[in-house]
Amino acid sequence: MHITVFSAQPYDQRFFEQTCHTQFADSDLHFTYQASALGMKTLALAAGSQAVCVFVNDVLDAPVLEGLYEQGVRAIVLRCAGFNNVDLKVAERLGMYVARVPAYSPEAVAEHAVALIQTLNRRIHRAYNRVREGNFQLDGLLGMTLHGKTVGIVGTGKIGLALARIMKGFGCRVLGYDPCPQEDFNRLGELVDLPTLLADSDIVSLHCPLLPATEHLIDADALAAMKPGAMLINTSRGGLIDTPAVVSALKMRHLGALAIDVYEQESGIFFKDHSDDIIDDDVLQRLVTFPNVLVTGHQGFFTREALSEIAEVTLGNLCAYQAGTDNPNALVAASHR
Ligand code: NAI
Repeated sequence: MHITVFSAQPYDQRFFEQTCHTQFADSDLHFTYQASALGMKTLALAAGSQAVCVFVNDVLDAPVLEGLYEQGVRAIVLRCAGFNNVDLKVAERLGMYVARVPAYSPEAVAEHAVALIQTLNRRIHRAYNRVREGNFQLDGLLGMTLHGKTVGIVGTGKIGLALARIMKGFGCRVLGYDPCPQEDFNRLGELVDLPTLLADSDIVSLHCPLLPATEHLIDADALAAMKPGAMLINTSRGGLIDTPAVVSALKMRHLGALAIDVYEQESGIFFKDHSDDIIDDDVLQRLVTFPNVLVTGHQGFFTREALSEIAEVTLGNLCAYQAGTDNPNALVAASHR
């Protein structure tokens, strides 16, 4: 089977080839790697493939799915957990198989959230630059002791639970909001409604998926409901936050600090080097001028362990498709083969 891998980075290729060689040596999987993201303009790159492998910013809406189908593509494997970029209803209508990697080291994302919290809190980003310039002054680097502070976790699934475990270890009071909470959370913290979580938390961290119901969950009203000076962390999906409203809350000095690993308009910007370009996104450019804002480029998942797991599960998803076996990772089962 031929598979075109879109939005492929050198590390994707490295981990895929390594895993294919060591764990799937008997399989009949042949990969072509394309650096371009999948969209209407790049559809033709999938010609001759029976499957495509995509990532978070590839667009698989109705016209793209229909175009892929016309070219003979019958399977879509996502090398991520979130699937908000795929029109599953259309895939189902076309009988296309869609599978994802439901979890790859949830701890990797939770640990990145903690790295963001402590970098912002203890001003490590500023301290690093100061010391390199020979400036050892502490003024402007004042942080807070996390022990005893309240951390609100929105979405208590795999990543939310991992973060709850870590923050409990810091001695924090942990609050969680989730319409379908997991029982495990009760051992770590207290489940509350969203207004209570926003009002009581010193740090709010988002770990729910992007769905129509969660789009702009953090809007101007939610920001106003947060504790003055609180910190907001988003390692989930950019669309959970109304970014211009966040910029206003920062300018009003109501929101104390912001760290984002994901951004609503990240597609076309993240995962690429723009250091020699002019970035035409004024909201993102404004965000990075704040001393109390930290932006990372969707690297929460980026650990060796997670990349190995992504490659292993994705290749397994392709083999399950080929073999026609039931696969719990399938979002849409194949109906044409
Ligand atoms: P999960 O499916 O285990 O947990 C998500 C939780 O959110 C579930 O418990 C669900 O009930 C809850 N939820 C649904 N609607 C909600 C709402 N309206 N309010 C609050 N909670 C709600 O997913 P997991 O593995 O914990 O991942 C969470 C998100 O993290 C993914 O959807 C993905 O967007 C993001 N992610 C980001 C990565 C990165 O590199 N930055 C890597 C992997 C995932």
